[in-house]
Amino acid sequence: MIGVTGPYLYIGSLRAEKIAEEFGTPVYVYDAELVEENYLRLRRSFRYGNLEVMYACKANNSVEILKHLRDLGAGLDAVSPWEVALGVRVGFRREKILFTGTSVTVEEMKFVRGELGVLVNVDSIPQLRRYGKTFPETEVSVRINPGIGAGHHEYAVTGGVTKFGIYINQLDKVEEVLREYRLRLVGLHAHIGSGILRPEPFVETAERLLKVAQLFRDLEFVDIGGGFGIPYRPGERPLDLDYLGSRLSSLFEEFSSKYGSVKLRVEPGRFIVGSAGVLLVRVVDIKEVEVGGTRKVFVGVDSGMNHLIRPALYGAYHEVVAVSKADRPRVLTADVVGNVCESGDVLAVNAQLPELEEGDVLAIMNAGAYGYSMSSNYNMRPRPPEVVVRGASAKLTRRREVLEDLLRVFVEL
Ligand code: LLP
Repeated sequence: MIGVTGPYLYIGSLRAEKIAEEFGTPVYVYDAELVEENYLRLRRSFRYGNLEVMYACKANNSVEILKHLRDLGAGLDAVSPWEVALGVRVGFRREKILFTGTSVTVEEMKFVRGELGVLVNVDSIPQLRRYGKTFPETEVSVRINPGIGAGHHEYAVTGGVTKFGIYINQLDKVEEVLREYRLRLVGLHAHIGSGILRPEPFVETAERLLKVAQLFRDLEFVDIGGGFGIPYRPGERPLDLDYLGSRLSSLFEEFSSKYGSVKLRVEPGRFIVGSAGVLLVRVVDIKEVEVGGTRKVFVGVDSGMNHLIRPALYGAYHEVVAVSKADRPRVLTADVVGNVCESGDVLAVNAQLPELEEGDVLAIMNAGAYGYSMSSNYNMRPRPPEVVVRGASAKLTRRREVLEDLLRVFVEL
């Protein structure tokens, strides 16, 4: 549970302020029980039993969370060779991992397929050829671009006219290359985008994929990708999961009764972890200026776009909560800005906040997905630590970087 009671924000049964004191700021904090709840919520919305939830670890690769999801029975969607390696190291069974890369080299496929024994989901016809030449007479999966895309921002749209997938009008080429190298197509895949709050694009994707699936006999799974959105803004309507789960279940039931059972795979990242994480930051500087006769306030914190790039990159909205003043009237309109030397370094624009003072802790909400995993060392700043909460216990699971971590990679210093 992450929520406000009285003046306090709680994560599990711990006050956020206490966690900030114990582990320092900035710090990413995740609620393991909420991760589990989100996972189970998604599973429950599907009536279709032959379902596998492949967690997209690009959203959050905290090993603690990966282990938890592994224990719940999840598979893993990995988009780079090292995500695959991490999954194997964490103990995901090889057959429960799918490697969906883009601009993939032969060396990468040799590592993933040859060394780690994980199925490759191919993104282009030339890649399929390279795969066939390197691993003839083996199993393979292909990513189809179904010709539709959706997402919370144009950068998060990965279907339609984008670099992703084998276009649906290239299917004869797929068949040709499969024949040439005697490859067995075991999976069809699509991922049309991220942060989608309407069910229709998913239903349409499934319809188009299942149509393609009729052309191939040996299919073990049809993977409709991830992209299930979550509400970030107050009052934003959540995705109607029950409706979506029911529509997709019907489509797969119908297909299976005609052509034999096929596994339905989904690859959620954000839906599982987004709401289960916050970034705790401390107010270090409050700048008040007058612009054209009106007051403008910049609340400077000890973090920034290097730790959470979504607001800077996509103009994404993240709710900000003053963790021990949550019940005070929100009388202040301010930009919450970081310590990085760029004007785009914002965590929130025109946030509604209570009156603040230096030392206050703020929670940047819904930061569990694409927060830490997109962080960087820009400006020579360390990445924050990660803490996982279960009820009343808080555990450090990734430590804060220290200066030596950043200096270590220089060949000469
Ligand atoms: N499967 C594949 C092949 C993907 O590329 C992605 C995300 C997912 C699954 C999971 O999507 P999700 O369920 O998390 O929406 N950085 C952006 C999101 C980019 C997502 C990229 N691919 C953001 O912060 O909004």
